Parts: sequence; C-alpha cells; structure tokens
Amino acid sequence: MPQSGGPGEEPLFTDFTASNLGLPPNPALPFYKESTRDPFGYTASPDGPKFLDPGVGGFLAGPQNPNREWATMAKSFLGKFKTPTLRNLDKRPRAEFVKAYMHNGYLKSLKEVVHFYNTRDVLPRCKPADPGEKVTCWPAPENPETMNRKQLGDLKLSDKQEDLLVAFLKTLTDAYSPPKSSQTRRHTRSDRLTVHDFVDRRLHRARSTRCNARKKVRGISSGRL
Ligand code: HEM
Repeated sequence: MPQSGGPGEEPLFTDFTASNLGLPPNPALPFYKESTRDPFGYTASPDGPKFLDPGVGGFLAGPQNPNREWATMAKSFLGKFKTPTLRNLDKRPRAEFVKAYMHNGYLKSLKEVVHFYNTRDVLPRCKPADPGEKVTCWPAPENPETMNRKQLGDLKLSDKQEDLLVAFLKTLTDAYSPPKSSQTRRHTRSDRLTVHDFVDRRLHRARSTRCNARKKVRGISSGRL
C-alpha cells in the first residue's frame, strides 16, 4: 500500500479506500455528553450517548456532497471512514504524549491497533472499561452493519508477530531511528526484522519444505531412499 502522494511526492501509505473496521465507540469523547443546549441555544450532539458516527455515509447524504448521484451510495458507506495516511503515524510532540488512533481515537498505541486487527473476531466481547478491554476482550462495534468482515479480525498473528508489525509501522515516521535501548541490544537480530524480512523468511521456509518434499519423492522413485 505505499501509494504515491503524486509525481515527486513522498509515499502516503494509504490505499485511499473507505472501510468500517468495526471499532467500538470511544465513550471518553466529550461529544457524547453535549446533548443539552449551550448558552447560545446550540445543541452540539442531540443524540448524546446514542450518537452513531455516520462517517463517509454522512458526508454522501449531506449538503457537502458535490455530486448528487453519489447520494445513492450513502447507506452502504454508513460507518465507513477513509483510510488515513500512515505516514508519520508515530510522530508526537514529546515522548510521553499519548496518541489517539482511528476516527474516534479509541486506540491509544500501535500495539493496540495491530492487536485489534489481529483479534477483533477472536476475543470475547466485553463492556467498555472491563479490566481486560483491548487486551483480552473487545467491546461491540459501533456500526456492525457495514463492518469489514473479510480483511481483518482474525489474522492469526502471535504476540511476537504483532510486535514486528508495530516495529515496521514505526519506520513510517519521518526521521525514524531504531531504538537504542539496552533491551534492543540484548535481543537478537530477529527483533530488528522488518515485516518484509519476516515474510521473505516464511516464503523461503515454505519453498525449502516443498523442495525437500520433492527431493524425497525423487529419492524414493529412484530407489535412493
Ligand atoms: C495489519 C494490517 C494493517 C495495519 C498494520 C493497519 C494500520 C492502521 C493504522 C495504524 C491506522 C490508524 C491511523 C491513524 O489513526 O492515524 C489505520 C487506520 C485505518 N485502516 Fe488500517 N491497517 C491494516 C489493514 C487495513 C485494512 C485491511 C483495511 C481495509 C481497507 C484498513 C483500513 C483502514 C481504515 C479505514 C482506517 C481508518 C479507520 C477509522 O478511522 O475508523 N486497514 N490502519
């Protein structure tokens, strides 16, 4: 997905599509509590805690849509959001700054993001603020109807493989430099593998297994084994 930002531009790392990843709502957003009139008579969020973010569907159904023909697609885009650029994903003003990922900021670290992609459909459901939330269970999706059920949810990655993906995602931030902590030095080369190295190794291992199997078959038929 390293899509170009245009001729001469740096890659943007997005596929420019829109999808509903099945994220739970983020109850910490003040918007859910803004259901009463302010001193000027304006109510920011009439639905209060029942608010469902319509995403791209809301844009297509609303007055900002520049092409009325697209309005017919509004329903199928409810709860879908544009895939943002992954460039500078890990950029923060200071080391202890907590990032907020996805349209509603529900996920707070790249580990949480990857763990969500990996386990959304595997771990049990739980209520928001459950002690295991985001680690051993996930709250229900905000908008299940249009949820992407094909490309994520059960990636079958181990914890270590999740960490490798996180390490790769960090490299997408400008001026990235590998961590120099003592832990990294203690660990072996495999900690510094990129996702590509990881995939290459898997392919290599699969190829040698197939190759050995063929050699065995040849050996048997020529009477060598
Ligand atoms: C393991 C593979 C993937 C990784 C590591 C990944 C990584 C990420 C990250 C880090 C974000 C948060 C960006 C931000 O908030 O600034 C994100 C958002 C997003 N990604 Fe992925 N992604 C993956 C697969 C996919 C797939 C298969 C799709 C389907 C088209 C997808 C669509 C999206 C969308 C739509 C968002 C924004 C969602 C929202 O705001 O609700 N991603 N991705």
